[in-house]
Amino acid sequence: MKQYNVAVVGASGAVGEEILRVLEEVDFPLAKLVPLASARSAGTTVTFRGKEVVIQELTDTIFEEEQIQIALFSAGGSVSAQYAPIAASAGAVVIDNTSHFRMHADVPLVVPEVNPKDIALWKNTGIIANPNCSTIQMVQTLKPLDDAYDLLRVDVSTYQATSGAGMSAMEELVRQMQDFFAFKLEQSEHKKFPHQIALNLIPQIDSFTDNGYTKEEMKMVNETVKIMHKNIEVSATCVRVPILRGHSESLTLTFDGAVDADEARALLENAPNIVVMDKPNEGIYPMPKIATDQNETYVGRIRRDVYRDNVLHVWVVADNLRVGAATNAVRIALKWIEMEQA
Ligand SMILES: NC(=O)c1ccc[n+]([C@@H]2O[C@H](COP(=O)([O-])OP(=O)(O)OC[C@H]3O[C@@H](n4cnc5c(N)ncnc54)[C@H](OP(=O)(O)O)[C@@H]3O)[C@@H](O)[C@H]2O)c1
Repeated sequence: MKQYNVAVVGASGAVGEEILRVLEEVDFPLAKLVPLASARSAGTTVTFRGKEVVIQELTDTIFEEEQIQIALFSAGGSVSAQYAPIAASAGAVVIDNTSHFRMHADVPLVVPEVNPKDIALWKNTGIIANPNCSTIQMVQTLKPLDDAYDLLRVDVSTYQATSGAGMSAMEELVRQMQDFFAFKLEQSEHKKFPHQIALNLIPQIDSFTDNGYTKEEMKMVNETVKIMHKNIEVSATCVRVPILRGHSESLTLTFDGAVDADEARALLENAPNIVVMDKPNEGIYPMPKIATDQNETYVGRIRRDVYRDNVLHVWVVADNLRVGAATNAVRIALKWIEMEQA
């Protein structure tokens, strides 16, 4: 099998570290790994397949010098804006985890379980965008239900882990919990979040837009339509919660006609990379603790609305660093390889 030179841009970050783990686990056809970060981490090492690999500094020439064929970016939007086109013109396919290119009309936005064929559009710019973490687990769940019942509208509330805001955001939660046990939480600083996150919930992720929704919420609205190629109405309320890993979502789904909860459960059981955990009387339902470090999206609490037979309620949990970022990016890369070799 052909082997590829792979760059991981942001290799020292929360998503980058996870990409390395997933590449190892899936036994990716990799000839050479080139971990990249800023000058801050250049010279430090990552462990990959039992060996220490030195992180290099991201530069304009590195992709050409290292003959990179696949570049996985997770170093922030401005880094992608500057360097993704450089990597693409050096001949690499770029799979970008940031929001920078997601809504560009000529850049495909891909969740392999939903719109794998869009990967073929990578030729437009050399770039494929990875959706927002909250969108990925949601559309994986929506797809089999839309195919069966014709989805019209989604009302979603999210419960998002601190790791969604990166490594330093996880550290902020841990530090505040330590301060709580040292009786000095009141003096604890918050930099990554607009308020104290320990022992709190924050109904704001990213900044507010003119319509009263946050940018994070509008990502769920716009990305869902682009990925599903359908004008589904979406209304989102995104909430940061004081946990480290795993985003949870409460979905209220309105369909064109009547739905059946048992049939919906069976459809989800057969959907790719979805695990149904739905025995609420036995205490079996998805929780972040279960989804952590896993590559599957967990679905439960599936029930029909008390009043309307065309409305279904579902609870969805997935690891934001894996399903919401690294795993989806690696799945795109594997599909791209499959298409390239076909
Ligand atoms: N966390 C999630 O759940 C998630 C999910 C989907 C997408 N994303 C997106 O992925 C990106 C990274 O997120 P993260 O959570 O991994 O953040 P993070 O933990 O803060 O890591 C950021 C990474 O980017 C590198 N970096 C920063 N500035 C750089 C520069 N000028 N040149 C080269 N490398 C630079 C950092 O390297 P140094 O060590 O050198 O600073 C580090 O490796 C963000 O755009 C985020 O929106 C995150």
